[in-house]
Amino acid sequence: MMLMSAQSELTASNRAIVLVAAPTLAAAEQVSAMLAAERDLDVRTQVVIDGHIDPLGDGKSAAHLVIADLGDRGGALLNDWDLRGANTPLIVIGPANDPQTMRRAMQLGARDYLSPPLTSELLVSAIRQVLSERIISHAPGTGGKLTAVITAKGGSGGSFVACNLAHILTVHQQRSVALIDMDLQFGALPLSLDLHSRDTLFDAIAAVDQLDPVALTGYMTKHESGLHVLGAISDQLAIPSEVSVEAVHRLLGLALQTYQHVVVDLPRQIDALTTMVLGAADNVLVVSQQSFSHLRDTKRMFELLQGYVGVPPERISLVVNRYVEKNPITTDDIRAAVRPQNLVLIPNDFVVATEAQNLGVPVYEGARNAPLTRALCAIAERVDAGVAAADAPPRQAERPVKRALQRVLGMR
Ligand SMILES: Nc1ncnc2c1ncn2[C@@H]1O[C@H](COP(=O)(O)OP(=O)(O)OP(=O)(O)O)[C@@H](O)[C@H]1O
Ligand SMILES: [Mg+2]
Repeated sequence: MMLMSAQSELTASNRAIVLVAAPTLAAAEQVSAMLAAERDLDVRTQVVIDGHIDPLGDGKSAAHLVIADLGDRGGALLNDWDLRGANTPLIVIGPANDPQTMRRAMQLGARDYLSPPLTSELLVSAIRQVLSERIISHAPGTGGKLTAVITAKGGSGGSFVACNLAHILTVHQQRSVALIDMDLQFGALPLSLDLHSRDTLFDAIAAVDQLDPVALTGYMTKHESGLHVLGAISDQLAIPSEVSVEAVHRLLGLALQTYQHVVVDLPRQIDALTTMVLGAADNVLVVSQQSFSHLRDTKRMFELLQGYVGVPPERISLVVNRYVEKNPITTDDIRAAVRPQNLVLIPNDFVVATEAQNLGVPVYEGARNAPLTRALCAIAERVDAGVAAADAPPRQAERPVKRALQRVLGMR
């Protein structure tokens, strides 16, 4: 199923539609109340009367996710319900420690299985995980690796890292790479490479329904190194909430089928668009610097990424840019405050960085042996790990329902 089926028109505000189906309205409303604070979700309810859940609730906008609450009758009800609908991702709320029901839920394709007592936190985290998985599960042949770059504080060097990482992956690792600017209001990535883009992300989004991998490359601005760049800035002001998350999602899926690496420069904000990209990313680079205020914001960013967006800690790297050894804040302080699983330091080098920026020449071309460039090469190596190997690990993590089932059945 393509994620954007013809029926799944977006709501005006582009919120993900979550359909809560239950045997009674009260039960459905109880679950929906837990999601009241999630403003980027359009939560709808449906009472299941004859056993059929219709993800096309109002006949117009298909749900992006169905939550089936089995209520008091639990597993017995699951046998009567037709949950397959239109392949819409499904989360089942059912009785705990009931392997039979869990197995049945899995057979029906459930992505997660939750049991009461349910907290909003748990439910929201499961929803975000499933919504972010869509890009992976609905892009057959997905081969590329997605790297999302976000700053913990503005001006930390996120765009500098994204741009130079993408360039190094192209020329040093010799991969096919797309660099996509998603800083919709202030992005200027093409300029860092002395490029002037004809088409922008918005043009590609507008045409996404007609694009295939070959057509997609037509929208990219080509750097002489072979790197393909999609800029964000157009003549008009773009309000992030007006950009269709679904369309960007499909564009990313297409880019991942087309390129070995897709590097995305994100604005420093957590919203529906960035949550989708961060949740789908193989690697998230949080770029920060060495000051108390940076540390405080980095800690907060890590909490948001892990708690709210649901990015597994092993996928997140903390990149401390403009690192100076003499700075009173040491790497031990940084580790103690943020507890990153992976910490990378990029040395401060005003001359090299400024020259690269001013001339629009990536550091790998202008200062290949500078310590700053070598640090960026190390990041590229890490991001590239496993790309060439035939036995690269599958992109999609084991589904939670399978893990839960194995636990209940004592399979591990
Ligand atoms: N390691 C470094 N040493 C010295 N200067 C650097 C280094 N990395 C980046 N810079 C400089 O820092 C400035 C800000 O970089 P950049 O635009 O990439 O930040 P950003 O985090 O993307 O900012 P914004 O929040 O506006 O998106 C640039 O002028 C860049 O040249
Ligand atoms: Mg930037």
